[in-house]
Amino acid sequence: MATLVGGITTSHVPAIGRAIAQGLQDEPYWKPFFDGFVPVRRWLHDTARPDVVVVIYNDHGLNFFLDKMPTFAVGAAPEYLNADEGWGIPQVPAFRGEQDLSWHLIESLVADEFDLTTCQEMVVDHAFTLPMALLWPDQAWPVRVVPVCINTVQLPLPSARRCHALGEAIGRAVRAWRADQRVLVLGTGGLSHQLDGPRAGFINKAFDLRFMDSLVTEPRWATQYSTHELVEHAGTQGVELLMWLATRAALGEQVREVHRNYHIPISNTASGLMVLEPVAAQTALHPA
Ligand code: DHB
Ligand code: FE
Repeated sequence: MATLVGGITTSHVPAIGRAIAQGLQDEPYWKPFFDGFVPVRRWLHDTARPDVVVVIYNDHGLNFFLDKMPTFAVGAAPEYLNADEGWGIPQVPAFRGEQDLSWHLIESLVADEFDLTTCQEMVVDHAFTLPMALLWPDQAWPVRVVPVCINTVQLPLPSARRCHALGEAIGRAVRAWRADQRVLVLGTGGLSHQLDGPRAGFINKAFDLRFMDSLVTEPRWATQYSTHELVEHAGTQGVELLMWLATRAALGEQVREVHRNYHIPISNTASGLMVLEPVAAQTALHPA
């Protein structure tokens, strides 16, 4: 059976791609952000050693546009290309798909009553490519991938409770995959930000920190909020934190926090980063 080795949650901002292309990692603006990834890469290399990454993210109009917007979509392609989104950032090399896990995940999630869109062709945007480039800066991807998209772009959005349930179902499916493979879940989006309207530039540090804490100690905390309440607290694009919630839910009841970083702002975004490891359920020594 496969091993779910852990979860990484991070923001995704197109400007990161420009900073990488221009080698700005040590500039004062960027250093506190890029430095956050050094221990994460060490953990990946020394401890997690994933073969496959399930990437939970939201497409921003590259693969899906407003005319056709699935609530949940899973990639089942042999490879995934990046393409020009208009941000002016260089494209990254193609990603190899893990099709056996894609189809296992699709079958398992549909059996669990998640009505998915399956994508046998799919291009991946900055929300997928930049977190991967932060984890593997040489862009010689040593892992195969399965993309999972959650719509946070066009209303109506799936509820926090539904995204948590999706994450739990992803976790069950990964653990039941009959392959001797190590699987990482990577969730990208958030934290608080709003790119448009009268509240453009809105950031809510108190909410972000409470949310990050909740992923360690109270993983269902954010499910109390409706979509509109999440927008109120985190901003119209801050609802991307649903990717973090799904990733956390995939890891099971208890986790150990390995690392976190939080830095304001990167572009318009409060950028957050967490690494969580599942803690295997303990057998009670003294049953009640
Ligand atoms: C920004 C943040 C995002 O999540 C995104 O998808 C695009 C832009 C920003 O802060 O600039
Ligand atoms: Fe985004």
